[in-house]
Amino acid sequence: MSVQARVSRQGVIRRYREWLPEIPDGAVATIGEGETPLIEAPTLSERVGARLFLKFEGMNPTASFKDRGMTVAMSRAVATGSRACACASTGNTAASAAAYAARAGVECFVVVPAGKIALGKAVQVLAHGARIVQIEGNFDAALRLSKRIAEELGDVTLVNSVNPDRIEGQKTAAFEVAEALGNPPDALALPVGNAGNITSYWKGFREWREAGRADSVPRMLGFQAEGASPLVAGHDFESPETVASAIRIGSPASKEGALAAARDSGGLIESVTDAEILAAQEMLASEEGVFCEPASAAGVAGLLKLAGEGRGPGGTVVSVLTGHGLKDPDVILGRVQLPDPVAATFEAVAGQMRRVIA
Ligand code: F0G
Repeated sequence: MSVQARVSRQGVIRRYREWLPEIPDGAVATIGEGETPLIEAPTLSERVGARLFLKFEGMNPTASFKDRGMTVAMSRAVATGSRACACASTGNTAASAAAYAARAGVECFVVVPAGKIALGKAVQVLAHGARIVQIEGNFDAALRLSKRIAEELGDVTLVNSVNPDRIEGQKTAAFEVAEALGNPPDALALPVGNAGNITSYWKGFREWREAGRADSVPRMLGFQAEGASPLVAGHDFESPETVASAIRIGSPASKEGALAAARDSGGLIESVTDAEILAAQEMLASEEGVFCEPASAAGVAGLLKLAGEGRGPGGTVVSVLTGHGLKDPDVILGRVQLPDPVAATFEAVAGQMRRVIA
């Protein structure tokens, strides 16, 4: 007897087919990305002076938003007969490429700054069997090399967000936000690194409006880490530095897209300090129960900063939490440690608890 399988998530290509480049059914490589939760954040809403929702992109198959674009890029690579892919990465693109390449049966090479990607991400790349090349250089150097490799070695698809298929797939998050709220929010706050994601959201919201699904688009509020804030400074950073390793980028590839999103939406691109990022990450985890990686907290950090200066957007605001907190355990262990063990007795265990709730 055959069993009727009910697939719970069909993935963004099947869900938003008419909004995406054409992909034959047989080429679709999906692991059920998209349909991530939009979570209301009551405590943080009070702090930022707006009705705040969190788009938790850490709930994608490889625990970051990259999967939305990777399914499109990898499926198109399969459709065009490409047998290998490559990318530069601060970690999440690499993890996503590794998973979707495994799914698609495509060889995958990831080029990363040596020792600079978070532990969880490196483990994902290894688990999926991709080939990892660690360079003695930063993300910007890795991207330059990956572009050249894709150009000079035939039959290698570059799956960074300079590949327009990535932008197309990632714009589906804007559709989900608009659908979940019934309307686009008044503002959308998110971290900016290589600037592909802000470009994608802005494209998605504009297309949604052009298709007559909504009358408005949100103000786009992008936030860079202060030590890696070329779009705020107006020039590239030679040696970007921040605790938020995912957005440690000195020369964003989609610079123009990010600046246009901020300008045309009446939004902004500003910076937040590492301390502000870590404080926001901690608030999200301890007050809302949502654990995201440091870079992902930059949007909330920015909203807190704007509110503190009386410049908060108000209304309905969505902050995109781009990646899961489990990606980067070292950041948490740098702040809090496991306590020493105690005896396996009632007195010892209850004693520990009484100290807190007495
Ligand atoms: N948040 C996380 C968790 C990321 O991994 C990235 C980018 C961003 C935000 C910024 O998005 O680059 O589109 O502006 N990570 C890339 C990578 C660079 O290689 O994983 P962006």
